[in-house]
Amino acid sequence: MNAPLKIGIAGLGTVGSGVFQLLEHNAALLADRMQRSVVVTAVSARSKGKSRGIDLGKVKWHDNPVDLAGDKDVDVVVELMGGAFGPAYDLIKKALENNKPVVTANKALLALRGAEVLALLKNSKGGTISYEAAVAGGVPVIKGLREGLAANKINAVYGILNGTCNFILSEMRATGGSFDDILKQAQAKGYAEADPSFDIDGIDASHKLSILAGLAFGCVPDVASVRTKGIRNVKAVDIAFASELGHRIKLLGIARRTARGIEQSVEPCLVPKTTPVAHIEGAQNAVYVDGDYSGKILLTGAGAGSRATASAVVADIIDVARGRVALPLLGVADPQRLKPANIDERTGSYFLRLMVLDEPGVIADVSAILRDCNVSLESVLQRGHAPGQPVPVILTSHKTAEGDILKAAGLIGKLNSSVEPPHLMRIETFENGAMT
Ligand code: NDP
Ligand code: HSE
Repeated sequence: MNAPLKIGIAGLGTVGSGVFQLLEHNAALLADRMQRSVVVTAVSARSKGKSRGIDLGKVKWHDNPVDLAGDKDVDVVVELMGGAFGPAYDLIKKALENNKPVVTANKALLALRGAEVLALLKNSKGGTISYEAAVAGGVPVIKGLREGLAANKINAVYGILNGTCNFILSEMRATGGSFDDILKQAQAKGYAEADPSFDIDGIDASHKLSILAGLAFGCVPDVASVRTKGIRNVKAVDIAFASELGHRIKLLGIARRTARGIEQSVEPCLVPKTTPVAHIEGAQNAVYVDGDYSGKILLTGAGAGSRATASAVVADIIDVARGRVALPLLGVADPQRLKPANIDERTGSYFLRLMVLDEPGVIADVSAILRDCNVSLESVLQRGHAPGQPVPVILTSHKTAEGDILKAAGLIGKLNSSVEPPHLMRIETFENGAMT
């Protein structure tokens, strides 16, 4: 048996304490698989006195997490604090400068500072970075894409990338509970980010999508070109009407190679109930990869939470222990700058929920705007009758350019009869890179 692998963990929250527990619980199995044991020698977190349900009695504590990188009793630095601009970056930088392997779950850092991390890696002699847990929790999508599908030209990568949002949308539909109450449940279960607006505003999913797009297309992650909209404005009425129309609402991340460049979007979409993705519920994630030889591959499983994420982190530790050299961060030695496509030119059908006064002439005004914006209506739904009062009216469009319907929605929102901004959602049928 080889010498034990000495691990330093920075961050002992949901994921860090899960990793600590897994390493302890499966110690014999892991030692057998790696032909060496793994021992946590040092840790760091903000509050030393916090009760965490783990025994830190024999473990060295560092007040400053960056010190883990210089600790001679740490072979591998495991960064589980999160955040793109705090000590997580300093720790990773120091570890790579000290030629140590790094394992991280930090998608914000990789998405926003991927190019810097890549530069650090190039200068490191022996440092590597592994980040399976950064996308889709326990689902091995990074390995799947980078290794299992390495022979393919990837046309598209897309799916459900945020467990918190999928949990909220599933529970709102199944239980009729309120958005705020269900978000609190997601936080209690350890699914949400430290700042849950990262989840519900689609930011976390856009970080993950940009990492996947970087891998799939050999590009530096480019979060700025991801059209990003979260789920704050999805209401019970949207879920009910979507269902009536044969759809469910899912926060989808979609990255596609097109003739115009790479399209990237994160937004709540209507998906037909007949597609598998409509049935991915709770904190599950689902990632489709469309390769030119593999065809479409679907990977699905728990996308958030302590145990599933720990599984992905420890899988990376096993790779390090076995001496498998991780490929560069972005799957290619020399990543390109991504050429973004103008998403306004994307076409599709759309769902538009208006909240308008129930009075004569309103639909005529709305129709005139749609006509002027070159948008063709497929259906109009209004339930009930409330003269002079606000009512929801649901429109669905035929295939139209996204820029045209966005313009129409803006103009409709300015009508005197419109009492709140219209809510627009794409009806995703996956024509290019279909998930059927
Ligand atoms: P938590 O908020 O539960 O834990 C964060 C940990 O980092 C805490 O132990 C905290 O210390 C410590 N920490 C935070 N800031 C500092 C600092 N400045 N100095 C020292 N320690 C610090 O987060 P999670 O465990 O949920 O997430 C960790 C990482 O994993 C993030 O990058 C997240 O995006 C990612 N991730 C999370 C998943 C999940 O399901 N939760 C899934 C996949 C990835 P203290 O406990 O003392 O406050
Ligand atoms: N907050 C993230 C989510 C954790 O809900 O998906 C997993 O990355």
